[in-house]
Amino acid sequence: MAFFFPSFLFLIFFLLQQPLFSTATLHGTSLFKSHLITQLDSSSKNNNATPTTYFEVTKSIDLPKTNPCSYLVLQQDFGYTYGKTPFLANYTPPFNCPSQKFSKIVLEWKATCKGRQFDRIFGVWLSGVEIFRSCTAEPRANGIAWTVKKDITRYYSLLMMKNQILAVYMGNIVDSTYTGVYHVELFIHFYPAEEMYSDYKRNSDYSYEAFDSRADLILPISRNMPLNDGLWFEVENSTDVQSKEFEIPQNAYRAVLEIYVSFHENDEFWYGNPPNDYIRANNLTDTSGNGAFREVVVSVDDVVVGAVWPFTVIYTGGVNPLLWRPISGIGSFDLPSYDIEITPFLGKILDGNTHKISFSVTNALNVWYIDANLHLWLDEKSIKTEG
Ligand SMILES: *[C@@H]1O[C@H](CO)[C@@H](O)[C@H](O)[C@H]1NC(C)=O
Ligand SMILES: *[C@@H]1O[C@H](CO)[C@@H](O)[C@H](O)[C@H]1NC(C)=O
Repeated sequence: MAFFFPSFLFLIFFLLQQPLFSTATLHGTSLFKSHLITQLDSSSKNNNATPTTYFEVTKSIDLPKTNPCSYLVLQQDFGYTYGKTPFLANYTPPFNCPSQKFSKIVLEWKATCKGRQFDRIFGVWLSGVEIFRSCTAEPRANGIAWTVKKDITRYYSLLMMKNQILAVYMGNIVDSTYTGVYHVELFIHFYPAEEMYSDYKRNSDYSYEAFDSRADLILPISRNMPLNDGLWFEVENSTDVQSKEFEIPQNAYRAVLEIYVSFHENDEFWYGNPPNDYIRANNLTDTSGNGAFREVVVSVDDVVVGAVWPFTVIYTGGVNPLLWRPISGIGSFDLPSYDIEITPFLGKILDGNTHKISFSVTNALNVWYIDANLHLWLDEKSIKTEG
């Protein structure tokens, strides 16, 4: 107890010293205290020290014992990229791999940075389908490096399609103060299925794949290219509704909508926002309000089909950057996406016509980045699903 109290008070004091703000994104022209820490760090004379390796504590990916066919999809420096078109790369699945049956596909993001910079939100899209949303680590003067691996096997049918465009958007700003340029390599590793295992599966009545099946078609519910930003929609307030029209093949028999979401600026710490009455009563300025409840509402043709209560990811500059050095917050390097089963609504959208998916956020303040992927299972033996 004797130790508990002082250290607890110190922690509280320490936290209160830092405004609840990181950055994860945008211009960030106001001076947050987190900059000062970076500044102090930058001025220390450790420029030749070895880079710090950052990491997020996660479950490792269960990989088959086969050698992956790996390739570098994109190699890019993200300097002044804010408000610019995403970086684009040609994508085609590996054609010279000894096997064309893969049991695991893993995206690997490797990045380094040196100097002073914010944590920046970024996204990776393949033909408009978001496959990765993440936040950069905040660099130090001695340099930093980090690697994120994500199991992207659920996008199998998409990843097997030739001649696609991969897009990466990270809105970074480089000037005389914020000097950090993010150097990025993006790999995709294709792990061939283990022969014995796949034989077993083929011969077995009890097919594992039935429970872990992947969609036959994945449609993007994101903004169209070309863009001067990410492919996500921006929801700016509680009445803002962002929509996208889509059409599905009529032989779909299952549909799951996968939602990607991240929250920034006035809502970066929405779970800590006080009610507006409190802000008024205390004459608070510079405090984000609307209370501490947010709900991402998803509609099909203006009928609510689901809601998401997002995990409170704290980006690497959040609350106090020193808390996330070198272990970043849960989800910060690989933001979770959320699945909404919309099969019960298939009857309404199987008519071959165009329909609409919309997003809004209850109580939202500026700004939420939201888009989605529509995973569809198709019955190849049928022209139209009925029932
Ligand atoms: C909410 O955001 C939308 C989109 O930017 C804007 O058109 C609208 O005026 C805003 N509404 C309010 C009440 O601020
Ligand atoms: C808020 O401002 C009003 C008007 O200036 C003042 O009467 C009131 O005492 C202030 N309240 C607090 C909690 O400071």
